[in-house]
Amino acid sequence: MNVAPHPHLDLSKFPRHALLEGPTPIQHLPRLSARLAGADIYVKREDLTGLGGGGNKLRKLEFLIGEALARGADTIITVGARQSNHARLTAAAAARVGLQCELVLTRTVPRSDHDYMENGNVLLDALFGARVHDLPGSANALQFAEERANELRAQGRNVYVCPLGGSSPVGCLGYADCAAEIVAQSHALALSFDRIVVPNGSGGMHAGLVAGFVALGLDAERVAAFTVYGNRAHAHATTLDKANQTLQLINPALRVQEDAISIDEAQLGPGYGIPTDTMRSAVRLMASTEGLLLDPVYSGKAFAGLVENVTAGKYAAGQKILFVMSGGLPGLFAYRNEF
Ligand SMILES: Cc1ncc(COP(=O)(O)O)c(C=O)c1O
Repeated sequence: MNVAPHPHLDLSKFPRHALLEGPTPIQHLPRLSARLAGADIYVKREDLTGLGGGGNKLRKLEFLIGEALARGADTIITVGARQSNHARLTAAAAARVGLQCELVLTRTVPRSDHDYMENGNVLLDALFGARVHDLPGSANALQFAEERANELRAQGRNVYVCPLGGSSPVGCLGYADCAAEIVAQSHALALSFDRIVVPNGSGGMHAGLVAGFVALGLDAERVAAFTVYGNRAHAHATTLDKANQTLQLINPALRVQEDAISIDEAQLGPGYGIPTDTMRSAVRLMASTEGLLLDPVYSGKAFAGLVENVTAGKYAAGQKILFVMSGGLPGLFAYRNEF
């Protein structure tokens, strides 16, 4: 949909339902680059995807919804934390294509204030007409989702269950496609990026990009992630596994090498969804120098890592860094009292 099929990355055999309007822009950030006085920083505006408030999950959902529709599903169930952007965008995409949607949301993040529980993504889930199951943090959400799916199947419904973050190998195809889009845009803009910086949550965006670059015969080590969910070892193992499973779908002859997965845990802080001072500063810096909005859980933490690395001189002056702005704006309203 976004670029013509590439000879080594032809995704046309996979069912897909278009949810994006076309390629997302790559933009230069001149004021931020000047302020940090180091690398030259660009953003890939994955937040500018047009449905349901936008965000990176729509690329995965093009393939997940495509698969669900190809299987004749009438209902989609997915899982996530209370303020999951993936859950919100699954609800929006379901509304768009006429599927019933149920969300199994766990209280994984230790926050119980009114904004966290009811505002942001949760407000939007309700507007999109999703049914929300509210589970304690200790619950096994996927097991609950499977049981609920079986209950609905017994009533004659055709249910598609979508994993955490939409990061199944099929979902990751969306970011393999994005790798091809970045390559096409880099050529058109005559730009070569030394680093592509991303947040790593369930690992699907990172894994899909790496799988895409490997399939295109390009250097996947350029993708540098900051984990916001698990520790480095956990994120590395799951991302490597997902990247290889995704490549298996694209071209089973190819493998991702272990050292092609670069993950830094410096911005994780006390844990998933728990704000850090560096995240707060990074969100403020981006908003006040460029008028762009990051989110407190994913892009804010990853951008904080980029800022720290530039400030510490880890990138040579003039190097070009592409930061993937993955969306998640509703999260700011859920974390209102942090700012
Ligand atoms: C706004 C935002 N950015 C980044 C991510 C991370 O993507 P992934 O789960 O594929 O690692 C997510 C995932 O929930 C997200 O919602």
